[in-house]
Formats: sequence, C-alpha cells, structure tokens
Amino acid sequence: MSDYLPVLGGKKNELRGGRHVYDGYQRGWGLEFGDLKARVSEDPDYRFAAEIAKARSVLLLERMMNLFLLCKFFLPRLPLGHIVEYGSFRGGSAMFMAALAQRFLPGAQVYALDTFAGMPETDRAIDAHSAGDFVNTNMEEIRLAADKLGLNNLHLVKGLFQDTAPTLLPQIGPVALAHIDCDIYSAVKYAYDVSKPHMVPMGYYVFDDATTSSCIGATEAVEAFVIQRDGLLSEQIYPHFVFRHPAA
Ligand SMILES: C[S@@+](CC[C@H](N)C(=O)[O-])C[C@H]1O[C@@H](n2cnc3c(N)ncnc32)[C@H](O)[C@@H]1O
Repeated sequence: MSDYLPVLGGKKNELRGGRHVYDGYQRGWGLEFGDLKARVSEDPDYRFAAEIAKARSVLLLERMMNLFLLCKFFLPRLPLGHIVEYGSFRGGSAMFMAALAQRFLPGAQVYALDTFAGMPETDRAIDAHSAGDFVNTNMEEIRLAADKLGLNNLHLVKGLFQDTAPTLLPQIGPVALAHIDCDIYSAVKYAYDVSKPHMVPMGYYVFDDATTSSCIGATEAVEAFVIQRDGLLSEQIYPHFVFRHPAA
C-alpha cells in the first residue's frame, strides 16, 4: 500500500534493541515535527474513523492519530492478531480502532475491556485517579451505537481486567496490539503482564497514559516492568509510549 509516511535517513527494517527505530521516527517525528499530522487529518480513512469516535474519547488527538497510523500502515505488516484495549470508558478509541480494523485488518477483532462503571480502587501513594473516576459511561449505549455503525468486530467485555482477561485471552487467539489506557499502576501492570503470553512476534504495546503528568502510576508500571524487568526499549515516546513484543 502506498503511504505518505516521511522518508528519513537511517535504515528501514533494521532491528535495534528489539524495536524498529526507523518506524518510531516515522510516526513520532512525523507527527511532532513533520507534516504527518496534516496528512493524517486529510486522510479519508482517518476522518471516517475520527467521526465515529468524536465526543466519545478522551484520547489526545496525536495519540488517536498514532493509533490510526498503526492500524492502517503498520499492523498489516504483522501476522494477523487481534486488538485488545484495556480501558475503554465510552468506547471512543475502541470504536475508532474497530472501524479501521474493518478496513485494514480483515479478520481482526477488537476487544474493549472495562468495568464500564468507573475506575476501581487506586493506590493514592502513586495514582492521582480515584475509585469511581470515569463512571459516566453506559455499556448498553456503546453496544447500540456500535451495532448501528455495523461494528460487528467490536466486543465489549465488562468487568475488572483481573476477572475477564484470564478467560478471554486464551480463547481469542493472538494479539497484535495491546492498547493499555487504564491510567493507574495496578491496572497498567496487570494489562501488560496478562497480554505478554498472547502477543504475536513484534506485536505492539501502546501505553496511552504513561507519559501523562496525571498518571505517574502508569509511568512507574512501565518503568519497573516493561523497561527494568523485561528490558524492552521504546519505539516511540511521542505521542505515547510504544514498545514491541520480542521477535521470538
Ligand atoms: C482513560 S479511561 C479510557 C479512555 C478511552 N480509551 C477513550 O477512548 O476515551 C480509563 C478506563 O480504565 C478503566 N479501568 C482502569 N482500571 C481498570 C481495571 N482494573 N479493570 C477494568 N477497567 C479499568 C476505567 O474504568 C476507565 O474507564
């Protein structure tokens, strides 16, 4: 597929420290300093999916755009895998990715995991969020809206990740993208750990909030477990942290 990603110096397809530095520059540099934001905002596929997510998602624009780039240009390069989102709130980013998956990732399903009833208990020693944050959502409303849009590849999974993911993940098959957008230490650590055995080689871990000032719990979980314990190096730090699952 032809694309409008920036052409840069450096070697395409070269692995360094388990990630593709070139790909990270294309998306991260392209969005922050190049013209990629303008190119994406003119892309009819982006506009179509963004319209669906409008007024539903709390994601920053650039982060939504990076998810778009991953779904349209990068996930199709990997073996087929599903998308699992940890933290869906009103379903904005999940519906966005489901709409894109229908166009670019035939067969891929999107699983949106959330209590759909607000944040669980948090650890006030590290998390700025409190239990009950994000309570203003309604899973039935999301289901109806998704059905109306024909998003039959979107599956809403209600409950604490700890209660739903251990049964769900072994049933669904390989995961190509784990979108971890749950803000707090315990949930970010859990979502990463439970996903690991199910990732396709070089699958993507996208941490929405680990570089957000109000989510130092998420930052600590990434630092302590993804970077220190597992030794992964990031492919992107802007507009959010992106890591690759090991190749083998
Ligand atoms: C920032 S919101 C997600 C935003 C969403 N992706 C969007 O597009 O707007 C974070 C969500 O994580 C959920 N969450 C956090 N910890 C959780 C856990 N352990 N189990 C289930 N849901 C959790 C909260 O209920 C909340 O809805």
